[in-house]
This record gives sequence, C-alpha cells and structure tokens, in this order.
Amino acid sequence: MVARGAYRLFTLVSALVLLYLLFPYLYHFGDYVRQTNPFSGQKYIEQAFVANETELACLRGHQTIPGDDRRDDPEESSFGGGPPSDPIPNVVHFIYGLKNPLYHPDAGRFDFLSYLAVRSAVVSLKPKAIYLHYTYLSDPPSPDTNADPMTNPWVRRLAKDITLVHHQPPSGESSTQYAHLSDTMRLQFLLEQGGIYLDIDAFALRSFDKLLRVPRPHDVVLGAEGGNRWGLCNAVIAARANSTFVARWLASYDDVDLSREWNYHSVLLPKEMAETHPREVCALAPDAFFWPTWTWRHVDWMHEPLSRDAAIFWQSEIDRHGGSLFENQLAYHAWNQMAWDRYLKMLTPEVIRAQDTRFNLLMRRFLEDDLYTTQVNKRIIYSTNGS
Ligand SMILES: *[C@@H]1O[C@H](CO)[C@@H](O)[C@H](O)[C@H]1NC(C)=O
Ligand SMILES: *[C@@H]1O[C@H](CO)[C@@H](O)[C@H](O)[C@H]1NC(C)=O
Repeated sequence: MVARGAYRLFTLVSALVLLYLLFPYLYHFGDYVRQTNPFSGQKYIEQAFVANETELACLRGHQTIPGDDRRDDPEESSFGGGPPSDPIPNVVHFIYGLKNPLYHPDAGRFDFLSYLAVRSAVVSLKPKAIYLHYTYLSDPPSPDTNADPMTNPWVRRLAKDITLVHHQPPSGESSTQYAHLSDTMRLQFLLEQGGIYLDIDAFALRSFDKLLRVPRPHDVVLGAEGGNRWGLCNAVIAARANSTFVARWLASYDDVDLSREWNYHSVLLPKEMAETHPREVCALAPDAFFWPTWTWRHVDWMHEPLSRDAAIFWQSEIDRHGGSLFENQLAYHAWNQMAWDRYLKMLTPEVIRAQDTRFNLLMRRFLEDDLYTTQVNKRIIYSTNGS
C-alpha cells in the first residue's frame, strides 16, 4: 500500500513538474491556436489590399479633397508649385516611462529596442528635434521621480540627438489613468507643437518629407491598420499644431469609461472621425505605417529566418525602396504587445547583425558601428560610449 501510495504521489508530482516546465510552450501553443484558428478574424486583418488614389495622393503630399477635381500635382498646382508655407514640422515626439518599472516591472525599461526606434527616427527622418517625454528613465529604476535619466546607458548613447522632457507623474495613480495617459499626452503635444508622434515600437524607415507638406485643410496624417482598414492607429501620427481634428480627438477622452474600450479611442474612433471629417485627415493605405500587421502569421513573417536567396532578395528590395520592404512603406510598427515575448526580447546588436530576418535587415543600418554586447558573468552588458 505504501509503495502504491508513493508511486501515485510520484506520478502526480512528476505530472505537475512536467506541466510547470511545459507551461510556456503550452501557453505559446494556446496563443497560437487562439490567433490562427479560422474564427479568430485574423484573416480579415491580413487580407490583401490595394492603395487607392486618395491614399496615394496623401502619401505624396498632394491635395486629396474628396469631390475636388483640382487634384493637385505640386508641379502645377494652385499652391504655386511649391510646398505649402507651413508644412507639418519635422520634429519627433516619443513618450516613455510614464510608469515606474520599480513598481510595475511589466512596464519595461528603456532598452536596446527603444534605442533602436529612436535611432531609426534620427537616421530616416533627419528631424530638427527629437523630444523624449518621460517620467522614469533611470537605470536601475528608482523611486525618485526626478532620478537622473543619464544613468540609463541607452539614453546616454542617444543624448546628442534628443531633448529630454520630464513630466511629473499624474496625481492619483489609477491604472485607467495610466492606460490612456500616453494616448492623451501624444495628442496634447501635437496640438501644442505639431510634428510626428511615434510609439517606442514604431520604426521610421524613410523620410516623411512629402507627407509633411500635405496641403491644408488636411492637418493630420494617419495610417490604416489592417488589410481591411478596420481602423486608423495612433502609434504613428503627423499633425500641424492646433489641428481641429486632434483637438476633437483629445476632447473625446473626457468623461468616458476608458477602461472598457481600449481600441476604440486609439484606433476605431479616429477612423470614424476621418469618415465624418475627410477634409481634415490624410489617411494612408495599410502599408504606409502598419504593414505587416500584428497577427500571429504576420509577426512570424517579419522574424522568421531567411534562406540566403531570400535574404539577398529582400536586401535588394530594401535598397531599391530606400530603406523599406515595400514601395509605399514609410515606417514599421513592431507591435510590442504581440511580438515581444516571441521575438523582440531576444534581439541584441549581434543578433541583428548576424541573423537574416526581414526585421533585422531593416534595422541593421540604425545600429552604430561601435555598439556591441559583451558577456560578463553571464550578465549582458551593452557597451556604450565612454562607459
Ligand atoms: C480610398 O480609401 C479610403 C479608405 O477606405 C476611402 O475613405 C476613400 O474614399 C477611398 N478613395 C477612393 C478614391 O476610392
Ligand atoms: C495655435 O493656437 C495658439 C492659440 O490660438 C496660438 O498662439 C499659436 O500661435 C497657434 N500655433 C500655430 C502653429 O498655429
């Protein structure tokens, strides 16, 4: 009896241990099934599309007013052939570290990938200024809301190219407030100063210069999300200061229970507003900023290892398009939420240099030559200038 009891216990414990060890794989598999099953709806997000004339005119900074036959070619337009006198300013806003990673470890740190996103803006957009709006950037994290951001090696490395703008944390730290703080802050900065807002996982691949010259009354440029254009995503926005569209969008955040409608204000509402106020918005096709999408298969496509021939092919495409995979692509949003655990967190400068994936091919030129990783005591230390 004792032997049998012990045996049962042993079996039970083994099963639990096995379950524990396999959990990440089971979780991964569950996620895979949830996302790729025929009822997940991801096939609509992934569907093929063709950029239409309005979207292409917008991409080229031409007049796109619906029903207006005077479709402008800058060369022979009523704007005198030149750009409008007040293009959208070529300044970039990033927002990072609103939550303190000391108390919210899942908030993440300003790390190699964040550095790479800012580098992509430096290299591709050649902006007049890059503002990094933050509350907590220090490394290691500190309870002090005024801790020195220069303790973060990645911030130090970017220091010559960015302007740090410190924001005090909001009073009363409710999580709903945090969830939308970054959404409303980006609109506030664009309303006050204009420019280009980029999420920290959005990578600029080519100059936005043509877009920035989009003629009034189009004061805002947004990109469609999904091959079915189900929304206009707020991860990349270009806008003139004082745009009525941005003011209206910002006002929509007042007095709503935001905890229940995450995607509505950031993706769906802008699409609805663009349909009711088409003269104010320049809406780009899905490939401009948000292609491929966040679906399981699309994320795989960006990060799967390429054969030698495929790597040569995609590198030549990137060269031909001036830095992007597709003709009309200006940025790539890497969808941190969907891709971090599966791929992004494993990336280092060495991995990006050595392994051919579509994502890595795009990113290589943003790495500075003297950036490398050294292993010391099994802890990864990123070598940085002068430290
Ligand atoms: C192009 O597509 C957008 C988004 O679906 C739509 O609003 C616009 O009317 C279309 N333009 C033309 C010329 O079909
Ligand atoms: C925006 O509006 C404010 C207040 O009306 C004004 O002071 C500012 O000059 C405007 N900025 C731009 C860029 O038009």
